[in-house]
Amino acid sequence: MTSILDGLETTAQVTTPKNPFQRIIGQEHAVSIVQSAVKQRRHVLLCGVPGIGKSMLAKAAYTLLSPPKQEIRLRRNKSQPDRPIVVISKHENGPENQSVEDRSSFSFYLSPDRLPIDISIKMGYRCPKCGEISSPADPSCLDCGATKRCDWLGSDSYHALFRILDVGSEPALRTVTSLEEIAGVSYHTMYEQSNNNEISVTRRRVEEGVNTEQEQITDAERVLVAKDSCRFIRVSGASHVELLGDVKHDPYGSAESLGMAAHLRVIPGAIHEAHEGILYIDEVSALGPHQSHLLTAMQDRIYPISGHNPLSSGAAVRVDNVPCEFILFASCNPENIGAILPALRSRIRGYGYEIMLMSWMKKNNENINNVVRFISQTVEEDGKIPHLTVNSIEEVISVAEKMAIHYDGQRNALTLRLRELGGLIRIAGDLAVQDSAQLVQPEHVKKAEVLSRGIDLENLHSYSYGVPEAASRDYFF
Ligand SMILES: Nc1ncnc2c1ncn2[C@@H]1O[C@H](COP(=O)(O)OP(=O)(O)OP(=O)(O)O)[C@@H](O)[C@H]1O
Ligand SMILES: [Mg+2]
Repeated sequence: MTSILDGLETTAQVTTPKNPFQRIIGQEHAVSIVQSAVKQRRHVLLCGVPGIGKSMLAKAAYTLLSPPKQEIRLRRNKSQPDRPIVVISKHENGPENQSVEDRSSFSFYLSPDRLPIDISIKMGYRCPKCGEISSPADPSCLDCGATKRCDWLGSDSYHALFRILDVGSEPALRTVTSLEEIAGVSYHTMYEQSNNNEISVTRRRVEEGVNTEQEQITDAERVLVAKDSCRFIRVSGASHVELLGDVKHDPYGSAESLGMAAHLRVIPGAIHEAHEGILYIDEVSALGPHQSHLLTAMQDRIYPISGHNPLSSGAAVRVDNVPCEFILFASCNPENIGAILPALRSRIRGYGYEIMLMSWMKKNNENINNVVRFISQTVEEDGKIPHLTVNSIEEVISVAEKMAIHYDGQRNALTLRLRELGGLIRIAGDLAVQDSAQLVQPEHVKKAEVLSRGIDLENLHSYSYGVPEAASRDYFF
């Protein structure tokens, strides 16, 4: 193969693929296994050093899945309120196929800006003064600075302290109920904060003489995993509650007439949200002993949700048989592979693949072309930096070569630690923008090479006079 560099002037001339698998460079072996694994709904363990495309592979795999067919909802269990009932609706029979008039209750999601004004103020999204929308975690309006309702739990400790001092304002509500009339029909509506900064809205038609308002709201089904939700769920191995779900505390939880019904307090785990989709766990070994719960979920394809805090009223609630039929994509650093539960690895090997990703590739024309394509992809994705001249490309290739020697001891090779190489390209681009240059020049790449080294922890003393002496050292040799 001839080098793409022959006759090339800038990276703007390089065509980049749209297909997410084709954008992954140097991991052809992993790409072909993942493609067939997903079609067969197999689990995958991706092992490799940081920044070589593990997350990219998992996201690309998701594009091969067909849309989910099921929605998971919870219904109040009248005889045993602490054991809500799971309802699985298939799309074909879901409420979305009925006309609005036929539906006695239905749920959907709204973004904060589409909420009724009074509701969005109560939930801490809208500023009561100027009407601007911001997160309930922000104690004051980002636009006019006025104090607004704030979510203490969602805010950081500094802002929480600020709220304690600012006794005049009220906390944001996570759940608001109201009576609404739509096209002549009255509904009890419940607005509830859910993940991804969306609000789940549940409407139940008011049927005269049947139930009290409180009962109507309580009887509404709760959507646990919505039909249109994205089923690529990414979690870090750090939180098992995020992984397995939880039940919120309610001080009146045991008194049904006062508190919020149990099924309305259930929070799905990532394993449930990834039902029919992909559960991507970054650094799976960090789950420690909780890996066994993951294994159970993979084996049984259902996993109960219960409250994790024994001091909370949520601990009394349990929902059995919540489906969690996900494909597991787990990632791990090679040095942590020993910390993965042998039973979990065996499960993955038995029903899927363990794949080791490469951290370098041979320096040949084909792979030089791949690096050039990567540079072009990085410029395109960034959107704020100019393209590179052919001389700058050569400079980046020489850094890629030095990195392969430095990190992997490989000569005549190119690094595949592409997150880091991408960082170098972005810094070089920023320097070109600073110089008002139309294209990134070799000197920008050279300067970026020094800057992209970051802070050298082993030579902190060299910074003691504020002069980064380490920067003038040759980094790699
Ligand atoms: N093989 C690759 N092909 C193309 N781009 C890559 C590749 N590897 C990394 N990149 C670039 O680096 C970025 C980070 O990659 P990614 O998040 O997939 O790394 P990772 O292996 O999951 O790292 P970590 O272990 O830190 O999670 C990507 O968004 C992409 O721009
Ligand atoms: Mg990653």
